[in-house]
This record gives sequence, C-alpha cells and structure tokens, in this order.
Amino acid sequence: MGRIDQETVNKILDTADIVDVVSDFVKLRRSGANYKGLCPFHNERTPSFSVNKARNICKCFSCGKGGSPVGFIMEHEQMSYVEALRWLAKKYNIEIVEHELSDAEREAASAREAMFAVNEFALQHFEHNLSETDEGRSIALAYFRRRGINDAMIRKFHLGYSAERSNTLLSTALSKGFSEDILVDTGLCIRSDRGDCYDRFRTRVIFPIHTVSGRVVGFGGRTMRSDKQGAKYVNSPESTIYSKKKEIYGLYQSKSAIAKKDKAIMVEGYMDVISMHQAGVENVVASSGTSLTQEQIRAIMRFTRNITVIYDSDPAGIKASLRGISLILAEGLNVRALLLPEGDDPDSFAQSHSSTEVEQYLKDHEQDIIAFMTDILMRDVASNDPTARAKVINTILQTVAMVDDQITRMSYVAQCARTFGMSEDVIALQLQRFVASRAEVIEREAARARAAESIRPVLQTEDTPDSPQADAATAPPPGPPEPVAVAAPLLNLNRNALLPYERILLQYAVRYGLLYLCETPGDDGSMHPVNVAGYINMELKADDTAFTDPDVARTFAAILEISEGETFAAEHQEAESRFLAEREAMLIDGREKIRQEASSVAEIEKAEQALLSKLDAELYEKLDRFDNDYLLRILCSSPDDSLRRLATDLSYEKYTLSKIHSKFAHLETEQEQLRTLVPRAIYEYKAAILAQELSFLNERLKQVPADDTESYTAILKEIINHQQLQARFAKTNGERIILPKRK
Ligand code: CTP
Ligand code: MN
Repeated sequence: MGRIDQETVNKILDTADIVDVVSDFVKLRRSGANYKGLCPFHNERTPSFSVNKARNICKCFSCGKGGSPVGFIMEHEQMSYVEALRWLAKKYNIEIVEHELSDAEREAASAREAMFAVNEFALQHFEHNLSETDEGRSIALAYFRRRGINDAMIRKFHLGYSAERSNTLLSTALSKGFSEDILVDTGLCIRSDRGDCYDRFRTRVIFPIHTVSGRVVGFGGRTMRSDKQGAKYVNSPESTIYSKKKEIYGLYQSKSAIAKKDKAIMVEGYMDVISMHQAGVENVVASSGTSLTQEQIRAIMRFTRNITVIYDSDPAGIKASLRGISLILAEGLNVRALLLPEGDDPDSFAQSHSSTEVEQYLKDHEQDIIAFMTDILMRDVASNDPTARAKVINTILQTVAMVDDQITRMSYVAQCARTFGMSEDVIALQLQRFVASRAEVIEREAARARAAESIRPVLQTEDTPDSPQADAATAPPPGPPEPVAVAAPLLNLNRNALLPYERILLQYAVRYGLLYLCETPGDDGSMHPVNVAGYINMELKADDTAFTDPDVARTFAAILEISEGETFAAEHQEAESRFLAEREAMLIDGREKIRQEASSVAEIEKAEQALLSKLDAELYEKLDRFDNDYLLRILCSSPDDSLRRLATDLSYEKYTLSKIHSKFAHLETEQEQLRTLVPRAIYEYKAAILAQELSFLNERLKQVPADDTESYTAILKEIINHQQLQARFAKTNGERIILPKRK
C-alpha cells in the first residue's frame, strides 16, 4: 500500500475541526472562548477536558492527553497516524490519493514489511500444522485438548505447532519465495557457524506474540518433548521489529476489555492469559516470565491506569516480583494484588472453576497494595516481635516511596497508620526518609556515571596539541569579541536539572519557531534574517551543545526541519501573496472612504497614513498567525506520541495565562517580547550548563589521588577556564538585546 499523498494529508489536517471531531465522542459545552467536557481518557466528574477551537487542539488538564484532531483520534481510537488520517478522511468525505514511495522509503519500509510478512506466513504455517497435519493433531492438538483449551481460543490466539523435522518451516517458506536472510533476521530460523540453516522452533506448540495493533513480531514455543531435552520455552530473539521489553503478551487480544473494564489483570504466562480468556475474563496480559519493564507498563497505560497483579501463592515468587509493583507505582498507576489459593496458578484456577466463580473470586480477593504486602510479609512474623514488625513496615514504606504523587502517597500513609495502629506522623516521617534516600541514590548514581564518563575527556581537552604553554607572546592577537561560549560538552550533564531550561526554549520554539526574530551576520558578512527556531539553533551550535532531553531534542529537530523545508517556504509565500492582495483591496476601499468623508487634503493625508500603518500591522499579524498555526498544526498532529504531547502541552496557554491577564491578550505581549525573552532563555540555559560543569569539576578535583599532579593541574586549569567564562558570561548576560527590525 502506498503512502497517503501529502496534499491529501494537508487537506485532511485543514478540514478536520477539533470541536466537530471531539464532539463525536464527548459532550461539549461552551466555556468562554473554549469548549469543555468530561475527559474521555480518564474517569472524572468535573470537566477538565478543554477544546480550543481557534488553535484547533484539545487537552485534558487533569491527565494531559489531547492534541490536534489527528492526535485526538490516535489517542482515543488507539490508531496509528495513518489509520487516524483515514478515519478523518472518511468522516469528511475526503478522497484519499495515495502516493508512490521513493526507492529509499520503499527499501526501509520493505525490510520491515518483509519481516512482518514472513512472520505472518509462519503463523499460518504453524496454525496449519496444528490442525491439518497428523503430527500436529496427534502431538499438539491433543496437548491443548488435555489442557482444556477450546477451538475458539486456538483461533483467537492463533496457536500453532512447529514440526519435529528440522527444516519444515524453512523449506516451505523458501518455496513461497521468502529469503533465507529474512527467516534468520526474524529468528524463525537459525544459521549455524557452518552456514546451514534450520528451524528455531521444533516439536513445539507456538504462541504468536502480537503488537498492540495486531502485527506478529515474534513467537513463543513450548516443548512437546517429554524427555526434558532443551528448554521448556524458546522465544524469538530480539529483531528490528521485536523488542522484548516493549511487548506484553495478550495486550492485542485484551485491550478492548481492558479499556472497557478500566483495569488490566497481570499474570505470568501464555497459558494463564489463554485460560482466563476462555473463562470469560478478557482483560488479561502476561509479562511472560520476565520482570516487568517501564515500556510494558506504559503500553498498558494507554488503556487503563488500574492494574491488578495475580500471584500464585508461592512466597519466593511473590517477593521476587515486588519490584514490578514498585515500577507500576513509580509510573503513577493504581496497583492492586490478588493471591490465588494454595497450589493454583491463573491457568489451573480458571480451568477448574466456572466463569462466575472466577469473576467472584477476583472481586472478593483483590487487595490494595498495602493490605497485600502486609498479609504476605506478616505471615511469618510473630505478633509480639516488634523488630520484625518494624522491618515489614519499612519494606512497605520503601515501596510507597516509589509513588511520585504526593497526594497518593499520603493516602498510603493514612492506610499504613491504620493497619499498624501507629500515628500518621510517625509513618509520614519514616516515609520521608525513604523518599529522600531514594532521591539521593538516584542523584549519586547519576553523578557517579557522569564522573566515570568524563575522566577521559577532561584530560583530553588539556592534551590537545595546540594548547600547551601558550603564553602571551605566542597567543594570537585579540580578535573581535566572539560570542560567549560555553565549553564543549565534555561532561555528561545532569538532564533533570537542565530540563526546565530546555523546556522554556522549546516552548518558544513551539509557539513562535517560524517567526522572524532578528538579523545575523552570515559568513560573508552580509545580514540574514533568522527566525526563533533558527536563532536558538545557532546559539546552541555556537557552543557545540545540543538539547539533552531526547523528547525536547526530537521536537526541536522537527521544528527546524519544518522551518527549513521547502513546503513551509512555499506555503508562507502563498499566504503572503493572499494577504497582500487582501491588503490591496482594503487599501482601495479605505482610500475611497477617506476621500468621501474628509474635508481637507491634510486630513486625507493623515487618515491615509493611519490606514497604511493599520493595514501593515494587520498584515504582519496575519502572517505571524499563519506561521504559528502552520507549525502547531504539524507538531500537534505528529505520529510521534511523545513529540505530539510535548508540543500540545507547550502550545496550550492555560499555564501561562492567569485568569486576569487572559483578557488583555498576555500572549501578544509574550510574542512582542521575544527579542528579549529568547536570548535571555538561551543565556540562562548556558549559565546552568556552565554552573553544572563547574561544580562537577570541583567534585572531580577532590577525587584525584594526591600523587597524580598531572590530572590535578589539568582539572584545575579547566576549572579556571570555566570560572573565567562564567565571569565573562555574567557581564554579557542580559546585555545582548536584539534590536527589533523588520525587513
Ligand atoms: N517463560 C519463558 N521461557 C522459559 C520459561 C518461562 O519465556 N524458559 C515464560 C513463558 O511466557 C511462560 C511464563 O514464562 O508462559 C511462565 O512460565 P511457566 O510458569 O514455567 O510456564 P506456564 O505458562 O505455566 O507453562 P505450562 O503451564 O505449560 O508449564
Ligand atoms: Mn503452568
């Protein structure tokens, strides 16, 4: 399938109206200039979902989700970018023109597509083996029957069988025109050192692993051999299309039930998910035996914020997986836990009880995390053993300390206090210690990592051949004052501390990136206009720095790409001619009116002057608004989830407009002050980097062994260097104001 033609994409983005689109799902009410409604992404009673018709974006001020019409549909319908575009095209009766891919695009896309295609082929091959071959029926189908799995589940999860002969899949796939390389790349086949190729899965029942949108990225295979040869489970290796830490088994089949019930149940294995589905509990996913990752939690988070973890009553297993609970808590989700009766796992429990019994058991035995941990941990603690009790409380509080949200944390404190019959103050104080020490650990680890990575570069900068013993006589003559420069990024910077500065800069770039800011001298000395994004980029490049936060960096790169692209130049040009024509028409009308109403030539002249400056101001305002809207429209419709969210966040004015000021167009003022605000933000950012590097160098200096004078002087020199920069910096900071100028 080709790509949607860019013209069509533009047409869809232009046509789709945010109020109209959101109204398909949310009942909206007018509220001032905006619309409001109950957020469709989380449960709430008072509306915090706001739709801004003028900017054509929406945002929930409680959960943060939102975006342009495309972004909204992607989030709400869990669609890909292209799927959302098609959805909107259908809504607005826009015919989709598909565009032929370029060679490079086709190649990149086709490598991935070929892997998906061979996986899809393998899935069908395995399904066929399971029910259409004698070997499959007698070994694998019989096995599923023994384990109580019905045909509906076999179809739903596309279960299959991989035959005993070592090249059954290989030879079938080759005969269908798939290459050996692609079979090896996906991990379906293994190539030995000697170069011969054979199937990875042999004599195994097959559990295909789907992405959330239903594409097959890998397989799990459980052995059917009774002789204990080989591992019980073999799984596909990582590949360009399969990242184990991202996928979570069953999400594809369970996502709608998860969204509907607003809860995900987490189990361990393939069979657990399948048996639960068969018992009618369809909101189940499996971590597949490995420890849960942040990415997996975030994948679930798209559908619900509530996770219930099911545990078999094996104490060792439970203690090992408490880390997973901490991770879920750290992501800000609500965790509950459930313990199965002794000797059962979800699979056996679901197989030995009726659907209603399973549902009832889940309802009755789900516990919040404090109660669950208390139960588990207090099991082997005698009630008269205060030391052991204190230990349990500490273990629980260490877990609670993972919760970032203050309010949630306090509710856990209250509950802990109740459970253990202690005062909330005591519990809160103890919790505070864990919170602080967790922060400390994180910071110390980061500092250690930075120090370890920077030893080499620090010394290297001092060893460069052109720097030794440069005294006053040999130093180059002082040239024109160069821009204040932060040292090259020789240190690994602490991202968290820089993020606020980076966000401010990005905020200006998102809101006003394409607006003219000032003129700068080019290589040949002539002056060139730069826009806000270009200016920020120039300043970063001058110091050889780049944004450290990956989301910020990606969003900024996208802005630059738009700013430098031909499409924008052309559309800007076109808008400009349109606005000029409008201005011309208004000028003619205005002059006519002035002539009719004026009583003297002087009056006519005065009125015409006023008219001209009014029309010019309007022209610039329209052009600026066009540029701002153009940029926002693209960013807030980006297929990149975190980019789109970040841009939507930063463009939405709620946080910058106080209620009183919004009436007086505070935004205008910000836009008018860009020539002081942007350079100041740049300088504050650089000052922060400099300060961080300096404090870090001082730290390094303390760690240098006493006898290592060489390193000592090297670092000292670097410190002096930084201090001089800082001094110069302080002098220049704030002084560089760009004069307003319009071509
Ligand atoms: N697992 C794995 N590789 C292994 C062992 C386990 O990938 N060598 C994963 C599988 O996803 C498996 C889950 O861990 O489903 C749980 O393991 P286990 O309890 O051993 O498997 P069950 O699903 O219970 O399988 P069965 O009931 O058939 O023994
Ligand atoms: Mn099992």
